[in-house]
Amino acid sequence: MSKPTPAESCSPPSQPAQALPDELHLLVEQHVQYVRSLDTRKDEYEYWLTEHLRLNGLYWGLTAVHLLGQPDALPRREVIDFVFSCVHENGGFGAAPGHDTHMLYTVSAVQIIATLDAFDELEERVDGGRKTVGKFIASLQERDTGTFAGDEWGETDTRFLYGALNALSLLHLLHLVDMDKAVEHIQACENFDGGYGTGPGAESHAGQVFTCLAALSIAGRLDLVDRDRLGGWLSDRQLPNGGLNGRPEKKEDVCYSWWVGSSLAMIDRLHWIDSNKLAKFILQSQDPDRGGITDRPGDMVDVYHTVFGLAGLSLIKHPGLMEVDPV
Ligand code: FPP
Ligand code: ZN
Repeated sequence: MSKPTPAESCSPPSQPAQALPDELHLLVEQHVQYVRSLDTRKDEYEYWLTEHLRLNGLYWGLTAVHLLGQPDALPRREVIDFVFSCVHENGGFGAAPGHDTHMLYTVSAVQIIATLDAFDELEERVDGGRKTVGKFIASLQERDTGTFAGDEWGETDTRFLYGALNALSLLHLLHLVDMDKAVEHIQACENFDGGYGTGPGAESHAGQVFTCLAALSIAGRLDLVDRDRLGGWLSDRQLPNGGLNGRPEKKEDVCYSWWVGSSLAMIDRLHWIDSNKLAKFILQSQDPDRGGITDRPGDMVDVYHTVFGLAGLSLIKHPGLMEVDPV
């Protein structure tokens, strides 16, 4: 697909929605049932294999049912009780009760608390409330580079930087971090192709592009982005079957509908890909029997590809879904 010139790129999305074949429609009820079923599969090996992702999985499932317009499909009280069963005294959260704290689980916990508007419970159930959680997150910022570690062991990654800013913005505690240093770090991660990696000099990857753009958006510094160069790299991620990959020479995968799509949306270039072909690819990746969405047609469903497939469809305004915020 040819790219618009920079002048045209400022115009609003202009692709007319084309009709999709009748058999390709969003299986709303099946997806809700799939998400509801996830916590009832405790006799399955896979359930226990994914324990280290439990809090993330809960956030993805909760977001999926919200996008599907059925926010009450998961039991609010049980969800909140589970979230607080994962908190530690230092304000960090683990993936499941007894697991070590990590930025990614803490971000999922804050996102669930925000989604369910359970901030009062955060004050009641955690000593020091949101400030304790905010201090845990802020303590993971590296003073010299401005980026963030995931936990006390020190691995850094732009995922953790974005997660920190996302959660702190939900907690109204962004002032706890050195924002100028964080922004400087993101600039240091920008590559010759316009993309971003896990750190300075690391290969551009669409997931990391999302984290860097969303962090810049929260910081109010999207002006630093070369939108046309990055928009070009991102739109090259669309393959002939409509699906998107995360970097050159890789396979298409439904989750990049979100990582690439939201990145394009943040720089006002979502119309540089063919939304209709993307919608077809995502809808073909649904499992009509079990519900849920796979990474690509014919594979096994999981909650991660289910939520990011739905979020991708929401970005391109597919009917039947709530609107998603790309940041
Ligand atoms: C696979 O990489 C990685 C993903 C599919 C996830 C990408 C998303 C992010 C890095 C953003 C995550 C954001 C937060 C806040 C946690 P791969 O190299 O195995 O996959 P590939 O073969 O598709 O390149
Ligand atoms: Zn994937």
